[in-house]
Amino acid sequence: MGRLGVMAKTRTSFLCDDCGAVQAQWAGRCPECSAWDTLVAFNEPASGGGAAGTRSVSAVQAAAGAAEDSVALPIDTIGVGDVPRLPTSIDEFDRVLGGGFVPGAAILLGGDPGVGKSTLLMQVAGSLAGGGHRVLYASSEESAAQVRLRADRLGAIPSIAEKEEQNLYVLAETDLGRILEEAVRLKPHLLLIDSIQMTWVGSAGGGAGGGAEGSRSGAGAASQLRRCATELSLLAKRTGITVLIVGHVTKDGQLAGPKLLEHLVDVVLAFEGDRHHRHRILRGVKNRFGSTHEIGLFQMTGDGLEPVLEHSVSFDEGTAASPGAVIVPTLAGSRCLLAEIQALTATGFLGSAKRRASGLDGSRLAMLIAVLEKHGGLRLADQDIFVSVAGGLRIQEPAGDLATALAIAGVHAGRALAQGTAVFGELTLSGALRPATGAEQRVSEALRRGAQRILVPESQRQDLESIGDGRLSGVRRLVDALEFLSPVPSAAQAGGGASPTVVRV
Ligand code: TYD
Ligand code: MG
Repeated sequence: MGRLGVMAKTRTSFLCDDCGAVQAQWAGRCPECSAWDTLVAFNEPASGGGAAGTRSVSAVQAAAGAAEDSVALPIDTIGVGDVPRLPTSIDEFDRVLGGGFVPGAAILLGGDPGVGKSTLLMQVAGSLAGGGHRVLYASSEESAAQVRLRADRLGAIPSIAEKEEQNLYVLAETDLGRILEEAVRLKPHLLLIDSIQMTWVGSAGGGAGGGAEGSRSGAGAASQLRRCATELSLLAKRTGITVLIVGHVTKDGQLAGPKLLEHLVDVVLAFEGDRHHRHRILRGVKNRFGSTHEIGLFQMTGDGLEPVLEHSVSFDEGTAASPGAVIVPTLAGSRCLLAEIQALTATGFLGSAKRRASGLDGSRLAMLIAVLEKHGGLRLADQDIFVSVAGGLRIQEPAGDLATALAIAGVHAGRALAQGTAVFGELTLSGALRPATGAEQRVSEALRRGAQRILVPESQRQDLESIGDGRLSGVRRLVDALEFLSPVPSAAQAGGGASPTVVRV
């Protein structure tokens, strides 16, 4: 294992295997989480900052002969050059990365077990390998045969013309030392680690984290995770191999090893979705090479993950207008998506009514309920209120306010917007409507997907009229918007209005 060891001087710190906190001195009990006998010695390159800090990386680069000029330069004399990119041809994936893989980047992909991480990885591997790039898929969870079977099923094995060589390699191995050895031998463009929780660094060698070690640190322990991630990150920086690491997420939604890995990598992606529904959303959580606003939409099918095309569902295919379901054109990075906000109210107990938001900010919901009471004349104090965004989308922009308010008001009163209505606008505390950013994009997208009527902030209506196709209605205040809700036959009310349709994209 010594071959990839860091030559620089190392500093020993002590890492708690339970909470991941780092201490300068050993103690019998972790000062952070109070667990007993969990501190393990951990050698990291002496870099002042955390592991894989800039100095340790450049030490490695220097060792690899990639020494950079360490003379300070006036900023305008520094050459920029475009960041080279390696696109996978899976558009939904490339967009989230900011245009494809950056050589030498370490990427962490987090997600619940079963969400489809291995499937995504194999499809990415197949696509890159098919494009003539070498890929090494290191699986520590499945046997090589299992990986091959999955690849067969996904049609991810590149077909090889005569005299060409296969670019997709599989290694079923949990020992990181072996994985690194194979990576150095094969020099792939992309190394996939599935998953870091099942990978371990042997205690014998002197890798970046080698040396003194407690007996507790099996694969998945915090010290192991950190060691593996440090080694992989160094490998990426040193060799220019892009490393994509899978990490499982714990029950409370944290990447296992509390935030432990995030600062060791350049990009953190989250793969989200409900195992019981088909839609999956890929999000950038951190990206040193691009924005984190973009999302990738997929659906899980019998043949793997398929990109969700924006126009696959439109208004006219939707269900009948139902109270509590309101459609909002929402901005997700450079795209506009139609999302459905669903609300349900039920009589609860005065003073302890429940309010739950999923896909929306809870405190924003509380504010909207107060605005509905004060300026919409609704009595909601004893109502349990549940609001969610269908299909696992998240709406964190205030332009979703009006839709949320109308969903709550509608389901409470058994009233609905006319079929084919879309709504956007921010609500102020005084019940007025504020203009929304990207209004043109929202209007064109809603119209493109068949909206019959769009409620927009009155202050923006005139500007939008030219693209509005005569279907815009300006709304000055919340009460004006409530006028658009009309009673629906009671049959539709019975189900509470929540339609079973998922993301309307
Ligand atoms: P998987 O990629 O193994 O999830 P993870 O690596 O995140 O734990 O796949 C999860 C689920 O996806 C699995 O229960 C079966 C399902 N699946 C499909 O529906 N279609 C497919 O083509 C594949 C490969 C998996
Ligand atoms: Mg898996």
